[in-house]
Amino acid sequence: MKRKCIVLFLFPVSLLLLSYSLSTGGEDKQGTETKIGYVGAETCKDCHEKQYETYAKSVHSKVSAKGPALQDACETCHGPGAKHVEKGGGRGVNIFAFNKDVDPKERTAKCLTCHEDTRQLTNWKMSKHSDEDIACNDCHSPHAQREKLLKEDQPELCFECHKDIRSQSSRQSHHPIKEGLIKCTSCHDPHGTFGENQIKADTVNELCFKCHAEKRGPFMFEHPPVAENCLNCHTPHGSNHDKLLISNPPFLCQSCHDASRHPGTPYTSANLFTGSSPSNKLYGRACLNCHSNIHGSNASSALGQAFTR
Ligand code: HEC
Ligand code: HEC
Ligand code: HEC
Ligand code: HEC
Ligand code: HEC
Ligand code: HEC
Ligand code: HEC
Ligand code: HEC
Ligand code: HEC
Ligand code: HEC
Repeated sequence: MKRKCIVLFLFPVSLLLLSYSLSTGGEDKQGTETKIGYVGAETCKDCHEKQYETYAKSVHSKVSAKGPALQDACETCHGPGAKHVEKGGGRGVNIFAFNKDVDPKERTAKCLTCHEDTRQLTNWKMSKHSDEDIACNDCHSPHAQREKLLKEDQPELCFECHKDIRSQSSRQSHHPIKEGLIKCTSCHDPHGTFGENQIKADTVNELCFKCHAEKRGPFMFEHPPVAENCLNCHTPHGSNHDKLLISNPPFLCQSCHDASRHPGTPYTSANLFTGSSPSNKLYGRACLNCHSNIHGSNASSALGQAFTR
């Protein structure tokens, strides 16, 4: 009961604080020594009601209500707006806009004035996206009303620029990205990582083990290409072969194993399969008919060593 009272009491107080924080901007119209050139959010609201409202609902408004820069709401990003207002506003009129023709580094710098130390952005400056002059507001808008201020939901957000990945993830075998079971950001950090390809792990295998732990082993009999890199046989986004494979067995296997002896011509009955290219190896699951534990085996026998159980 007591708790409810406190909540009921605090709610109007926090509303008051919020409106106070937005309206102190108005008071700044007179201008103080430190605030010259700034007009405050209430003034912007007169002409930009829509942006005012999206901002007021956003995390930026909520957190800056507590910060020292509270008077500058809009102007923390758009810069001082007095001249823009004096001239009656307009495109290209004395205000910082995040349009495409503005240097992406400059746009990003506006965000980094506060986000320099945000944990998730530690690797931004060495990321491919930063190298390629992608700006924060290619993916985010502080006026977007989506989770994490994203301009578009995943994967559409990423597909807009990564058309090749869009087509890969429509292939017959694919990670369930379009189905919404996993996201691009389950595997990648668009803000950069230590690993290559902005993947969220030090190595490809460590990434795969996060969700496919049973492939980690340890196995009594390891298949060396598995331990080395899952991508020796798989492709991450999509494939026209089963199980995200880069090619089908037996060809997959024969890219490394001798095609001229057993591996290539497995256990044929010479009477049934003769001629220059004995083809029973192509039936069904080919090599996998027998070598079914291809990722490694713990069976303590020659059969384990050959991954047949
Ligand atoms: C945290 C930074 C930030 C804050 C705070 C912010 N904006 Fe923005 N604003 C942006 C960004 C980034 C864009 C560009 C969005 C995009 O790329 O779609 C933008 C776009 C705009 C635009 C241009 C829309 C168009 O049609 O081109 C207006 C107008 C605007 N903001 C007004 C405001 C007002 C008014 C406030 C305060 C109530 C405000 N902004 C607060 C970052 C901010
Ligand atoms: C007197 C009305 C008025 C006021 C007050 C005003 N603006 Fe504007 N602003 C405009 C008009 C008109 C445009 C052009 C919009 C358009 O063409 O859609 C504009 C455009 C903008 C743009 C886009 C600029 C560009 O080059 O694309 C931003 C950002 C912006 N205003 C931010 C602000 C901010 C922040 C404030 C408060 C500091 C503010 N405005 C106050 C009228 C105003
Ligand atoms: C005046 C300081 C300031 C500026 C400028 C600023 N931010 Fe923020 N931003 C914050 C704070 C504080 C938070 C809340 C704490 C956090 O997540 O770091 C935040 C949170 C966020 C979040 C997380 C939203 C969520 O739902 O968790 C995103 C995304 C974001 N900002 C993007 C941007 C972008 C993009 C820009 C530039 C257009 C920008 N910010 C400019 C201070 C700022
Ligand atoms: C290529 C697209 C892209 C770019 C560029 C980008 N972000 Fe993000 N950002 C995202 C996505 C997607 C998420 C949500 C991640 C998630 O849900 O795991 C996110 C999340 C965030 C968060 C919230 C982190 C958290 O987990 O709460 C902040 C803060 C943020 N971004 C700030 C920025 C800033 C600042 C920049 C520019 C330096 C930037 N982002 C550039 C796509 C991007
Ligand atoms: C299951 C994990 C996983 C998911 C989910 C995933 N990726 Fe990847 N992605 C990888 C791995 C691993 C690589 C490294 C490939 C290599 O080394 O050849 C990669 C490489 C990339 C590359 C660079 C190389 C290339 O093929 O062009 C891009 C771009 C990329 N991914 C974008 C995306 C996008 C966009 C999404 C969401 C639609 C996504 N990825 C989802 C694991 C994933
Ligand atoms: C505005 C365009 C744009 C958007 C949106 C975008 N990217 Fe990128 N991304 C690029 C460009 C350009 C490159 C560099 C060229 C390339 O590898 O295709 C890149 C590269 C990458 C790479 C390869 C990194 C490396 O180190 O080689 C990955 C992974 C990636 N993006 C993931 C994502 C994910 C995940 C999203 C969505 C959250 C996303 N991208 C959204 C433009 C974009
Ligand atoms: C974020 C979790 C996650 C990560 C990381 C991940 N996967 Fe998956 N993977 C899944 C899910 C979910 C499925 C679908 C499982 C299902 O349909 O039962 C799947 C399915 C697969 C399949 C079977 C595809 C099919 O057509 O049946 C293969 C092969 C696979 N993953 C390989 C990999 C490889 C290789 C990596 C590392 C590059 C990896 N996965 C990383 C979640 C993940
Ligand atoms: C030597 C080639 C090869 C390598 C390397 C490899 N795989 Fe596979 N993987 C296969 C084959 C072949 C299949 C299909 C098996 C079948 O159909 O029974 C498969 C199937 C899968 C499947 C789906 C069926 C299942 O067994 O769950 C997953 C998940 C998978 N692999 C994950 C991985 C991971 C994670 C790695 C890295 C640790 C990896 N693979 C490395 C050949 C390989
Ligand atoms: C990227 C190369 C590569 C691919 C692809 C590959 N292997 Fe291997 N495989 C190896 C290597 C290297 C060894 C270890 C050879 C050694 O110890 O002499 C090995 C070992 C084996 C062994 C055990 C050999 C022994 O004597 O212990 C079998 C069985 C085997 N592979 C079957 C397969 C099958 C079936 C496929 C296809 C699904 C396949 N391999 C795909 C590289 C590969
Ligand atoms: C009918 C079952 C069967 C099929 C099909 C089969 N194997 Fe085997 N393979 C075995 C058995 C059992 C062993 C272990 C006994 C032995 O060494 O003869 C073996 C051993 C191996 C070895 C290790 C010994 C060696 O001869 O180098 C490799 C490598 C191998 N197979 C690869 C393959 C490849 C590649 C294919 C597909 C082109 C394949 N196998 C198809 C049953 C099969």
